[in-house]
Amino acid sequence: MPMAGGAAFLANPALDRRRAYGAAEQAILSLAKAAQAHHAIAAWDGYRPTPMMSLANLALETGVAEVLYKHEAHRFALKSFKALGGAYAVERLVAARGSAAGLTVTCATDGNHGRAVAWGARRLGVEAVIYVHETVSEGRAAAIAGFGAEVRRVPGNYDDAVRTSAQAAAVNGWTIVSDTSWPGYDLIPRDVMQGYAVLALEAEGQGARPTHVFIQGGVGGLAAGVLSWYWESQGADRPVLVVVEPDKADCLLASAAAGRWTSVGGDLDTIMAGLACGEPSELAWTLLSPGADAFMAIPDALAAGTMRLLAGQGIAAGESGVAGLAGFRAVAADPAMRTLLGIDAASRVLCIGTEGATDPAIYREIVGRDAAEVEREAP
Ligand SMILES: Cc1ncc(COP(=O)(O)O)c(C=O)c1O
Repeated sequence: MPMAGGAAFLANPALDRRRAYGAAEQAILSLAKAAQAHHAIAAWDGYRPTPMMSLANLALETGVAEVLYKHEAHRFALKSFKALGGAYAVERLVAARGSAAGLTVTCATDGNHGRAVAWGARRLGVEAVIYVHETVSEGRAAAIAGFGAEVRRVPGNYDDAVRTSAQAAAVNGWTIVSDTSWPGYDLIPRDVMQGYAVLALEAEGQGARPTHVFIQGGVGGLAAGVLSWYWESQGADRPVLVVVEPDKADCLLASAAAGRWTSVGGDLDTIMAGLACGEPSELAWTLLSPGADAFMAIPDALAAGTMRLLAGQGIAAGESGVAGLAGFRAVAADPAMRTLLGIDAASRVLCIGTEGATDPAIYREIVGRDAAEVEREAP
């Protein structure tokens, strides 16, 4: 369904809100394993829950009770939420092997996952080889190398880099620590997604009781991790969850429309680099297909506008980090969508601001100021 501002919306035709979170789902992700991930991550140096901000101006403007923004820009040293997944998976891998000796991990990345795997590998003395595709910015590649990983640039898009890293792993005896899963490769991505569920667990501890969650989707692992936590803990009373993707890389929306796992091709060219994925994670799709309420695709302009809006409030948020909030703003401005999703003056909306200025040069280009300047001017 097209919307004002160039966004598109699809109520999930496969949604089954009364379906219980059963054994099959728990075998993928569970509350018990989320608690275990939280326990492990909370023991890392520098851990603290990221801030939960209440955006009062935006709540007023959009006519809801509360807009909550969980700000991941200062999660460890990575400027994004991603350590919760990639670095946690590396830690689980080392624990399962009993040692880091001789271990090399590899993955493909749009920027943030590779940074998290490199950081997690360095903490534990593991070698890392990270594959970036053609359009990953130099700034993002350099940040990964800055954590001691070998960075290899390959032709094509994110999904091509996933295949290249898997081939290299097979040839060299490396272990793939991917944030996406495919047939025959789905154990480590469970740990990655399980780590992401810590976001929901932290949010609960911070007093967030959302009626709606607007969350960005790349391969879908983040959305599935957060959904799983609310679904298992609250069943049919869980918040309405809307997955928001770039319109240039809307593989989850396309899958929902087709009624089955579907990829979208092309160069996936969007400023929302962390979401530039054309193939859903199989495991994530298994949960999102029956459990997500709706899917949206937004143009770059909505993300850029939301970055500038947040900058005006002293919050430096990156291109992919604001997608959920941008999707909510588009829905809030559309009376038919509000009715469809039950958004009203009593609604409490949660968005996860999954990254800060992960590429400082691109951030400055879009916002007109540096992240540090924006944060200094916080009201
Ligand atoms: C900043 C940011 N937000 C959201 C996501 C989406 O996560 P997923 O690919 O698991 O859907 C990513 C993925 O890299 C990301 O970098």
